[in-house]
Amino acid sequence: MDVSIVGSGYVGTTVAACLADLGHDVVNVDIDESVVAALNAGESPIHEPGLSDLVALYGGDRLRATTDYSAIAGTDLTMLALPTPSEADGSINLSAMAAGARSVGEAIAAKDGYHLVVVKSTVVPGTTEEELVPILEEATDRTEGEDLGVAVNPEFLREGSAVDDFTNPDKIVVGTDGDERALNRLADIYEPIVMEWEVPVVETGRREAEMIKYANNAFLAAKVSLINDIGNVCKEYGVDAYEVAEAIGLDHRIGERFLRSGVGWGGSCFRKDVDAIRAAAREAGYEPTMLDAAVEVNERQPDRLLGLLDDLVDVAGRRVAVLGLAFKPGTDDIRNSRAIPVIEGLRERGAEVVAYDPVAIEEMRERFPDIEYAESGAAALSDTHGAVVVTDWDEFATLDEEFEAMADPVVVDGRRVVEDRGSIVYEGLTW
Ligand code: UGA
Repeated sequence: MDVSIVGSGYVGTTVAACLADLGHDVVNVDIDESVVAALNAGESPIHEPGLSDLVALYGGDRLRATTDYSAIAGTDLTMLALPTPSEADGSINLSAMAAGARSVGEAIAAKDGYHLVVVKSTVVPGTTEEELVPILEEATDRTEGEDLGVAVNPEFLREGSAVDDFTNPDKIVVGTDGDERALNRLADIYEPIVMEWEVPVVETGRREAEMIKYANNAFLAAKVSLINDIGNVCKEYGVDAYEVAEAIGLDHRIGERFLRSGVGWGGSCFRKDVDAIRAAAREAGYEPTMLDAAVEVNERQPDRLLGLLDDLVDVAGRRVAVLGLAFKPGTDDIRNSRAIPVIEGLRERGAEVVAYDPVAIEEMRERFPDIEYAESGAAALSDTHGAVVVTDWDEFATLDEEFEAMADPVVVDGRRVVEDRGSIVYEGLTW
């Protein structure tokens, strides 16, 4: 199929490259000329395992990029993968989506025959029907159902495994409200994946599809917050939360994944999406108690980590190492990383922070230009009176000699990565 994708961010680029790999002809439309040039030259504008290989293989060929929306007229369907950033109150800002939908509509107007627009971006229930369809209808001068289809097809890609998640997903969600033409076109797009992996396809309404994306992320965020809450209770009673998690995870109704307690969740999606659905709930007159609590527990975990350190060492005027700056291992993304409140808390206490991460130092330097950054875990620990582990990078597991050589070998682990706790003073956040 001929597919156009508007937006070359993390979702747009991954989906474009993977669809090219499935045999489709893909054109990516983006306003950023440098991104367009990179894609056409076979260079991935974002870092994701496996993505550079796909872009190198198909870029400029089966995967093309342009700043010109008129390219959409030569395609069978258009995916909207534009950002929906948060407003101050947590609600989503739709301006990029609205402008994108208008430009897509104008391009479709120049084409004869049916065209399907697929919303991939994360939008609150009702957005497609109430905000995007009217824009598309006006710009195309068509009524939905008459040569214009609009579907919702959210993505569940994780940073660091986006290509694998796309090619072998747990599910594919298509919200069409039963529109046969839209369903058929989406079935054609995903057929190779569905056939190879026997992936369940959830055919549902557009509002439901929009909500499923939020519910998915909110549930995962809340699951981690619940195990963190339980983990905090465990800590008070001298119980190892990881032993508890392993046992409860054997109950199939609970499941073993996403039960790693610690300093909390970060990243660009969980907080944004939980905030958006909380704001949408309030707008509808409902108080989302559990979702509020998921955020509150998450905000408190860095304080609990620092509280444990306070009990062991007075950090004022002393060097303290922060190990891990990325929001999770395998990425240089620091958005909403728990390292940010940890560094802020240490600075409030008057500590001299020395931070280390295998890949995310430059990103954190923009956020905190005047703390010290070390070139290795060993260098970060040298001459320090305390260390906190914030990201579960494997390399922190084997720093035992370096921990022992600290001025005060006091380590508070927020991710349960330190294995050899030999002669150091060691505290785990929930164990
Ligand atoms: C998340 C979802 O997992 C994806 O399905 C979704 O598509 C994506 O958001 C999105 O909406 O774009 P991602 O933000 O890449 O993906 O990261 P995750 O791997 O889910 O981890 C999120 C955070 O939870 C990390 O900070 C991680 O350290 C933390 N976490 C995860 C825990 O603290 N404990 C766990 O047991 C699992």
